[in-house]
This record gives sequence, structure tokens and C-alpha cells, in this order.
Amino acid sequence: MTVFSPEVRIRPGSGPATLLPSLPPLSVYVHVPWCVRKCPYCDFNSHEAPAELPENEYLDALQADLEQTLPLVWGRQVISVFIGGGTPSLLSAQALDRMLALLRSHLNLLPDAEITLEANPGASEASRFMDFAHSGVNRISLGIQSFNDEALKALGRIHDSQQARQAIEAAMKAVDRVNLDVMYALPGQTPAQSEQDILQAMSYETEHLSLYHLTLEPNTVFAKYPPVLPNDDDSAAMQDRLIELTASRGWNQYEISAYSKRGGHSRHNLNYWEFGDYIGIGPGAHGKLSFHDRIIRTATTRSPAQWMQNAIKRDGSHYAHNARVTPKDLPFEFMLNVLRLKEGVPAQYFQERTGVPLANILPVIKRNIEKGLLASDPVRIRTTDLGWRFLNDLQEAFLPDEGS
Ligand SMILES: C[S@@+](CC[C@H](N)C(=O)[O-])C[C@H]1O[C@@H](n2cnc3c(N)ncnc32)[C@H](O)[C@@H]1O
Ligand code: SF4
Repeated sequence: MTVFSPEVRIRPGSGPATLLPSLPPLSVYVHVPWCVRKCPYCDFNSHEAPAELPENEYLDALQADLEQTLPLVWGRQVISVFIGGGTPSLLSAQALDRMLALLRSHLNLLPDAEITLEANPGASEASRFMDFAHSGVNRISLGIQSFNDEALKALGRIHDSQQARQAIEAAMKAVDRVNLDVMYALPGQTPAQSEQDILQAMSYETEHLSLYHLTLEPNTVFAKYPPVLPNDDDSAAMQDRLIELTASRGWNQYEISAYSKRGGHSRHNLNYWEFGDYIGIGPGAHGKLSFHDRIIRTATTRSPAQWMQNAIKRDGSHYAHNARVTPKDLPFEFMLNVLRLKEGVPAQYFQERTGVPLANILPVIKRNIEKGLLASDPVRIRTTDLGWRFLNDLQEAFLPDEGS
């Protein structure tokens, strides 16, 4: 078997060598591209499922995709797996079992690795959650969005609030670790309705909540036919209120949209935000991998059919992108992630994970400490409350200079 190595495609002359003293933790993202129906606000790589999912074809391609990535991560331990989508809960118990067996047989999965599966309450039978848990899933992330039937209808969701509640109960029975995704600033939503949604979400005492401001993404039905959304004042009031409510009930907002209890942060997402490494397999999946002298980013073809066709050729043709990150872009890429975290990261991560000396960005750091956007902390890189409010400006301060 010829194993394609993305290394051979890296263009020479893409900047000076990056020297990493050690490699960061490694995670795995698996993309499942199908949903019952496409939601009008969604720009994820998700496609309406055919009458019968091509599960075997998908898993054969997934195996081929993984096997072509393996030479890049030989021997490394994997701390987490995230099976996202799309709607992975559409997969049969047998398919999910085969997927996890594949990951276990090919990778060095830590015995206590976090294994998350994303689920839609409209595709969430309780028995299937139990089967998923028996296969090794230990965390379920549910796309609740709202507990209000009108809002769910306006969002084009395939489930109502009762199904949302049933799915939460089923998920909490199957696994200890559950996340609920809830969105706010929904079409026609009032601040009081948003508050009700947050109160209900908190009442289940899951260990994690992801609270997202609905955004109008280009190339979605909502971008073409915009619904009537709350005005800026109302959506800012909703955001302030949910921050207040979660804090008053002991939730830890550790990232812009992520809230945890009992130390239940998402280890997988935390690894992204701490500029860790990840393999991305499945259609349209992204990866970031470090080597002692460079960092590469990969992305696979978005079309499920094309990805399946190309992955099994095992010639690398399923990659849409595969290139080294130039060292001049690394400070911005690092800051784009770590500044999202309330507590930031240890300062030494910068050099350890980018290979760029911290001294190179000290003038920018100092300038932003003076502006009150970065904390004056010798051992951590972290924002102040003000910096969090003007996060885009702060992140952009680390963009490479024109012409550098
Ligand atoms: C891949 S989906 C989660 C699982 C499943 N597909 C579902 O929707 O039930 C990830 C989450 O991103 C959030 N999301 C998707 N599109 C969004 C948008 N336009 N604005 C804000 N949040 C969005 C939703 O909360 C959604 O649950
Ligand atoms: S179910 Fe989730 S991934 Fe699928 S279209 Fe809706 S929001 Fe997107």
C-alpha cells in the first residue's frame, strides 16, 4: 500500500524553520456530514441525508482517510475524540461501534480519553444513546437551541421542546457528561424569552452549556431571506443577562460561549483553544499537526460523495488543503485561539506551540497591557475584561505586518 504523506506537498521556501521543543496534546475530529434536514441558519458542512445512509461506504472512506494521516502522528497519544457534524446521532449503533473500533485499533487512545458525540433531539432515541455509550462515547453534546416551540419552528428545527427535554433525559441516563447548545437573539425573541431558555437549560444541571449568539452566515437561507431579529440593544441585553444568570448559579464561563460546572470543561475544545494539535477526518474536516520543525494545516474535500470517492484511492486526492503555516502567521493564529479563554494560557505555551520566540511579540503585548486589554501577568497570556469585550481588535493586533 502506498501511504500518501502530506509532508511531500509542502512547498519549500515558505519561511524560516520553526523549532518546537515538544509536541502539544493531540485530539481527533471526525465529521459526519448528514442531517435529517438543513437548518436555514446553518453553514456547517451538512447535507440532507439520503433515504438510507451509505454507512459502509462512509466508514471505508473514513478508514482510508485515517490511514493516510497516520504516518504524521505515529506513536502520539490521543487525548480526545469529537464526532461532530452534521448529525452523528443519525448513525446506527453498529456504524458508531465500527467507527470507535477503527479509532482504537489505529490510534493510541488514552484509556480516559474524552469521546464526544453530537446529537440532534430529533434524531436521539434513548436506546441508541445507550448503545453509543456502550461503544465508548462518554460525552453527548445536544443541539437544543431553544425550549420555545415558536422559536424552534422559526429556526426550522426538526424537533419540538418536548423532544428536546426527552433527549436531555436520555443523554443524562446514558452518559455522565452532557453539553447543551442553546442559541439566543433568535427571530422574534424577546429578552424575557431568552432568559427563560437559559433558566431551563441550567435547570438540568448538566456539566456544560454552550450559549451562542445566532449569527447570519453567508450562503444560508437566512442570509438570503433574513428573518426579523432582535435589535442590537435587545441582543446585548440578552447577552449581559445570560452572563449574569450563569455566574449567579455557579457556572464558569471559561470561553466566550462555553460554561462549565464541576470542572466539566470540554477537553477537546480546550485543546483547540490552547493551540493543541488535531487530526481531522471525514468530509470537510480540518486538521492541525505539529512537527519539530513546522506546523501544517489540512482540510479534506467538503462534498461527501467526492471525499468518499477520493479517500479510498489512497493517493491524497481527498485533501483540499495541505500546507505549512508560515511562521509569520503563527502569532496571530495562536492569539486567535488562546485569547478566547478567560484564563488564557501559560506564557511559555507561545514559544512551545509556535516555535516563535516570545520576544518577537513583546512590543505588541506591552502596548496592549498599556491599553488595558491584556493582563499584566508575567506567567500567563490572558485578556482583561475590557480585552474580552474588544476581542477582535486585540486579536488583530497580532496580525503580521504588511510585507513581513
Ligand atoms: C453541528 S451543530 C450541533 C449538532 C446538531 N447538528 C444540531 O444542530 O442539533 C453545532 C451547534 O452550532 C450552533 N450553531 C449552528 N449554526 C449557528 C449560527 N448560525 N449561529 C450561532 N450558532 C450556530 C448550534 O447551537 C448548534 O447546535
Ligand atoms: S442539524 Fe445541526 S448541523 Fe444539521 S443543519 Fe441543523 S444546525 Fe446544521
